[in-house]
Amino acid sequence: MAKHILVLHGPNLNMLGVREPGIYGHQTLADIDARLSQLCDEYDAGCSVFQSNHEGELVDRIQAARHDETEFIIINAGAYTHTSIAIRDALAAVGIPFIEVHLSNVYKREPFRHHSYLSDQAVGVIAGLGPAGYEAALRYALDH
Ligand code: DQA
Repeated sequence: MAKHILVLHGPNLNMLGVREPGIYGHQTLADIDARLSQLCDEYDAGCSVFQSNHEGELVDRIQAARHDETEFIIINAGAYTHTSIAIRDALAAVGIPFIEVHLSNVYKREPFRHHSYLSDQAVGVIAGLGPAGYEAALRYALDH
């Protein structure tokens, strides 16, 4: 049976390409998703992608992953990384292993970005590698 991976993008990531390109680069979310989908095809895996600007919708999608055979989650929760106990709790509730990804190196930025509600529960954390970080996370998920 093909592996099933869920990629979650949080708030404002739909603005990639336009949003602070000096920090987040010029690729759009569609560019990133297209590359991830290509990689999934290479591995003959099933990948779902979901973006939302709303915390509750992200919680709902994580809960739904219990019933759609998701084996691994890759999540860039955006600003909710630093604020959301609800997203942390949802990930813990479903018990699906996940990797936390950030395009920027959050540790080089404002102190409020240095704390994550997700990191201590994650299999791993990738920050600062831009879109290549998603790709590395996806390769890991597909290989393990
Ligand atoms: C981000 C970093 C967060 O601090 C920020 O709120 C984002 C994007 C990143 O990918 O670098 O929205 O998660």
